[in-house]
Amino acid sequence: MTRIIDGNSLAAIVREQAAIQVQEFEQQTGTTIGLAVVLVGDDPASAVYVRMKESDCAQVGIRTFDHRLPADTSQAELLDLIDCLNADSAVHGILVQLPLPDHCDEEEIIARILPEKDVDGFTATSLGLTIRGQDGIRACTPLGVMRMLDYYGIDIEGKHAVVVGRSTIVGKPQSLLLLAANATVTVCHSYTQDLPSVCRQADILVVAAGSAKLIDKSCIKCGAVVIDVGINRGEDGLIGDVDFESVAPLASAITPVPGGVGPMTRAMLVENTVQAALKAGSLRQNT
Ligand code: GUN
Repeated sequence: MTRIIDGNSLAAIVREQAAIQVQEFEQQTGTTIGLAVVLVGDDPASAVYVRMKESDCAQVGIRTFDHRLPADTSQAELLDLIDCLNADSAVHGILVQLPLPDHCDEEEIIARILPEKDVDGFTATSLGLTIRGQDGIRACTPLGVMRMLDYYGIDIEGKHAVVVGRSTIVGKPQSLLLLAANATVTVCHSYTQDLPSVCRQADILVVAAGSAKLIDKSCIKCGAVVIDVGINRGEDGLIGDVDFESVAPLASAITPVPGGVGPMTRAMLVENTVQAALKAGSLRQNT
């Protein structure tokens, strides 16, 4: 029997726990936990993601500071905004929704976010701490995937994990987290030769390629765990990177799209924001 990994249910559990922590923080410090959300331009998909993230925050009692900026906002204006948010003690986390418009230098914007407010886990500091296995903020999607594997009791140690995709926000940090959990990790990308044969070696297959239905049953070893990070827009709604119908019968467990990784990414954003606030709160107490 194939288990369907239910990201919606697990995300709801994470939010319930976060809501308790938010309330405790408020009682102890008199401060509401705050997340600044920066959205530049009018990309409809980004607008939807941001709305869902803000709704999750509202549900747990995190206050959001909404910064919707026109597409022609200059790099200097954006950097100034980040500086203000870094300095604002009511803001515990900063989220800059990507992609930014073409004229913006994304690297420079992300680098400007204070690491302790980098609740997306995108800065060089956060990624460096991930590589070093040190305490720090982990990227939300890879962290959400690890949480799902853990919750569903899926063994990672000694298993062969294959990650399809090498982006800085998913594939690379995902491979590091799986490595830290003692998996043997292979990372595939657009230059990989014979992708199906590499994927067929996977006990755990994480697909974050951004290509609808890239992975079909020819890529699956019987009994593999399949995690689909893809969110592609098709005529009939959202489609994953995995052809669910063809793959599910072979897999021991699989995430659906929608309702798999997506809600967990958002739940980890909530959790990272709470953790950032707790850390800022305890630092303030100790000084
Ligand atoms: N764009 C696509 N995914 C993400 C994400 O997880 N965070 C941000 N900030 N932008 C994104």
